[in-house]
Amino acid sequence: MRKIFVLRMGHRLHRDFRITTHCALVARAFGADGIIISGDKDDDIIKSVEKIKASWGGKFEARYDKNWKSSIKDWKKRGYVILTTMYGINLPDAEKIIKKDSAGKDILIVVGSEKMPSEIFHIADLNIAVTNQPHSEVAAIAMILDRIFAGMELKRNFRNAKMKIRPQEKGKRVVSV
Ligand SMILES: C[S@@+](CC[C@H](N)C(=O)[O-])C[C@H]1O[C@@H](n2cnc3c(N)ncnc32)[C@H](O)[C@@H]1O
Repeated sequence: MRKIFVLRMGHRLHRDFRITTHCALVARAFGADGIIISGDKDDDIIKSVEKIKASWGGKFEARYDKNWKSSIKDWKKRGYVILTTMYGINLPDAEKIIKKDSAGKDILIVVGSEKMPSEIFHIADLNIAVTNQPHSEVAAIAMILDRIFAGMELKRNFRNAKMKIRPQEKGKRVVSV
């Protein structure tokens, strides 16, 4: 089965803890297989993703790779690399290109933090925008995964969960599995 990973570039210790954690949680919840974190090494993020996985299930993998360039080049040997940037092709148009060009391939979705190195705009197979307006890497991950999975990820079952939510119109109900 094809693998879909997110590459979070330029992680900064302390400053980006919350947003990089959110990139990982959103990637996991929306059906990606894992996240590669590049920039400053931050074991606390990997630990917090592992904790979520232990309680809520699934096989999501979080790992650190200091060298984003070799990570992307390695990925390109077997897969398709998407850079998320407000300067790219807007999602409604990019969606058709992704479907055609990534068919049967693994996908790497690259998101940035601060200013991205200019070469990244040329290394990726496709630069895609989720609107051509500035916003957030977290929203970009969610929207792109939702289009790739055509909404099916919203119903996904996470195996080996210790806890599950019984959805309520009002109130909260969590059951131990
Ligand atoms: C807060 S932005 C910082 C962008 C930075 N000012 C720059 O010029 O590269 C962080 C990341 O969010 C994502 N992002 C922001 N707006 C986006 C958009 N409209 N479409 C797709 N991704 C976007 C990109 O991955 C970007 O690297």
